[in-house]
Amino acid sequence: MILVTGGAGFIGANFVLDWLAGSDEPVVNLDKLTYAGNMETLAPLKGDPRHIFVRGDIGDSTLVADLLAKHRPRAVVHFAAESHVDRSISDPEAFIQTNIVGTFRLLEAARRYWSELPAGEKSAFRFLQVSTDEVYGSLQPADPAFSETNRYEPNSPYSASKAASDHLTRAYHHTYGLPVLTTNCSNNYGPYHFPEKLIPLMIVNALAGKPLPVYGDGQQVRDWLYVKDHCSGIRRVLEAGKPGETYNIGGNNEKPNIDIVHAVCALLDELRPRAGGSYREQVAFIKDRPGHDRRYAIDASKMMRELGWKPADTFETGIRKTVQWYLDNPEWVTHVQSGAYRDWVEAQYATAAA
Ligand SMILES: NC(=O)c1ccc[n+]([C@@H]2O[C@H](COP(=O)([O-])OP(=O)(O)OC[C@H]3O[C@@H](n4cnc5c(N)ncnc54)[C@H](O)[C@@H]3O)[C@@H](O)[C@H]2O)c1
Repeated sequence: MILVTGGAGFIGANFVLDWLAGSDEPVVNLDKLTYAGNMETLAPLKGDPRHIFVRGDIGDSTLVADLLAKHRPRAVVHFAAESHVDRSISDPEAFIQTNIVGTFRLLEAARRYWSELPAGEKSAFRFLQVSTDEVYGSLQPADPAFSETNRYEPNSPYSASKAASDHLTRAYHHTYGLPVLTTNCSNNYGPYHFPEKLIPLMIVNALAGKPLPVYGDGQQVRDWLYVKDHCSGIRRVLEAGKPGETYNIGGNNEKPNIDIVHAVCALLDELRPRAGGSYREQVAFIKDRPGHDRRYAIDASKMMRELGWKPADTFETGIRKTVQWYLDNPEWVTHVQSGAYRDWVEAQYATAAA
């Protein structure tokens, strides 16, 4: 049994689906179902006894302690977070509450649970903190990619809150001996991505005939990893990572945002041609995000060297699968956009609580 937090979000849900596709080890999935959590993504697991979904907050110490005592997981894989940089700029409070205070409470509950475990289970227990490359700040064009020893220089409220949670995780290992693992991953893309983030936003807007908004000059460089490869990296770290260590996960796919947008347009031109010309004609440059980091790049050589992990997909194969997934799943997108699934969740839980 493992406890996953944030398993109704983009990466967490992909992780849970992949986990149960490859193993019969059950998952307790604790998720608050914020706007970013989506039960529809988990629909394939409906009625599956291996998946126990609990709607709740990682900051609810009593709930987390009860879940740990009841299900006795061998590991906690911690995805739950506020994750959108733009939202962190307009309203940082939730980022502090969930990413910092929530992670602290989760760590504290995990420490109490772990400290009471019998010796064998205690040494086998793991707390895996899922983090981001954004904690390292921004690179100049000629700088080497981020390694695990780069200093932390977070620039947005989002990355600062993730940095704080990484530090707390590290401190729980150093001070209390909690067997923690931290992964810092580059930008993910793939199925079930909420259409406020770059790639799904471009696909969805392109198909709707809307402008494709690109910040500034579009030359912000990101390192892109297909979400399934992030999930396989996390599974590998959980399996073989050394407690107290940090592992960078990346796809070695550095690309400026505008190239990503053009790649999406080219695939749509091929797979769902538009009358009257290329989707590229919908690109609209808009005012840049304040404090926008210029370049992130991940050096994932430690993962490859020490754990033998490497991504299965290149950007070209991953982006093709992603565009095809959005073309094949218009209902998922429509429901996310209409908020229908959120209405459903509210009604569902109102009934359950009554
Ligand atoms: N998306 C990326 O490109 C990327 C890259 C590297 C690392 N990460 C990290 O991976 C993790 C998952 O990212 P994502 O893109 O899937 O995020 P997401 O926003 O899609 O999902 C976050 C999930 O956490 C849940 N949640 C939020 N607050 C909660 C709380 N207080 N208690 C319980 N659940 C709560 C939400 O309901 C949602 O289901 C985050 O920690 C993020 O920092 C993301």
